[in-house]
Amino acid sequence: NELAAFVQGLPKAELHLHIEGTLEPELKLELARRNGISLPYSTPEEIRAAYSFHDLTSFLVGYYDGMNVMRGEEDFYDLALAYLRKASSQGVRYAEIFFDPQAHTSRGVPFPVVVRGLRRALVDGRRLLGIRAELIMCFLRDFSAEYAMATLMEALPFKDWILGVGLDSDERDNPPVKFAAVFARARAEGFFLTMHCDVDQQDTAENLRQVLEVIGVDRIDHGVNVLESPALVSAVLERGIGFTVCPVSNGFVTDGLKALEVKRMLELGLKPTLNSDDPAYFAGKYVADNFVAVAEAGLSRSELVQLARNSFEIAWLPDSARHTFV
Ligand code: ADE
Ligand code: ZN
Repeated sequence: NELAAFVQGLPKAELHLHIEGTLEPELKLELARRNGISLPYSTPEEIRAAYSFHDLTSFLVGYYDGMNVMRGEEDFYDLALAYLRKASSQGVRYAEIFFDPQAHTSRGVPFPVVVRGLRRALVDGRRLLGIRAELIMCFLRDFSAEYAMATLMEALPFKDWILGVGLDSDERDNPPVKFAAVFARARAEGFFLTMHCDVDQQDTAENLRQVLEVIGVDRIDHGVNVLESPALVSAVLERGIGFTVCPVSNGFVTDGLKALEVKRMLELGLKPTLNSDDPAYFAGKYVADNFVAVAEAGLSRSELVQLARNSFEIAWLPDSARHTFV
C-alpha cells in the first residue's frame, strides 16, 4: 500500500537492533540441525506459538533461551547477513547493531568466534547489498561489573570492529552506576557510549539521571520516560542527546507503542528515532513496520520524515559520511 511504499522509500538508519533478537524461527531450526541440538519444536509455527511475554523479564527468558543454537562463527555470520538482507529490503542504508557477547561467552562460545562471524557478515553486506553497518557491544547488566570489565578487555584486540558499547538486559536492581568504571574505561579507549533506559522500569527517572550525569552517554536507548521530568528534558536538549525508541517492542513489553510519546518528543525538539529492537520476537516487525505502526497511531508523514532524518543525525557516523545517505 501507499504508506508502506512511502516508508520503504525513506532512507533510514537503524540504531537499536539486537542481532540475537533477529533470530527467526526458520534459522533457529536450521542452526539447531547444523549443531546437532534437539529443540522441543519441529516447525517455525510451533516456535512462534510458544513465544509468550508481557514484560521485559518474561521476554528476556525466551531471548536468551533461543540463542543456545548459535555455536560457530558461521552461525553468527548467517544471523547477521539475514538481518542485513531484511533491513536493506526495508530501506535501511546504515545500521549500528548491538550484540551481547556475554550471552555467548557465558555458555562457552569464545568471544572471537562471535565477533569474527558478525564482522564478516557486515563486510559482505556492504559488498553484496550496499548497506553499511557497525557493531555496538552490549554488556548484560544482570551480570557483574567485573565480568563486564573482563569482556571489555577481551574486546580491545577487536577495537577497530566495534564502534561503541551499550548496556542491556534486566534493569531491575542493575542501575547505570553499577557500570560507571567500565564505561569510564570504554570512553578512555575511544568507544561511543549508550545505555538502555527501558520503558516504565523501576526508578526510570533516577536511571535517566545517572546515564546523563554520571555515565555521560552519547545516546539513550528507549528513554521515553524522559517526558516525565522537565529537568531531564532540559539536560537532554542541552547536550543534543538522541533516543532510540522501539514502538513495536514497547507494544509487546509495556502497555503500548508509546507513539504519542514519540510525537511529544518531536514537539519538544528532542531527537527520537524508530527502531525494531528484537524483531524476530516481536511478530517479525522490522524497522519499516515500526514507521507504519506509529503512522497508524497518528503520526504525520512529516513526522516520519523527521524521525528518519534524526536516525542519520544521531548515528555515530563521521560528518563526512552522514549526508551521503540522504
Ligand atoms: N536485550 C534485548 N532486547 C532488550 C531490550 N529491549 N531491553 C533490554 N535488554 C534487551
Ligand atoms: Zn533493546
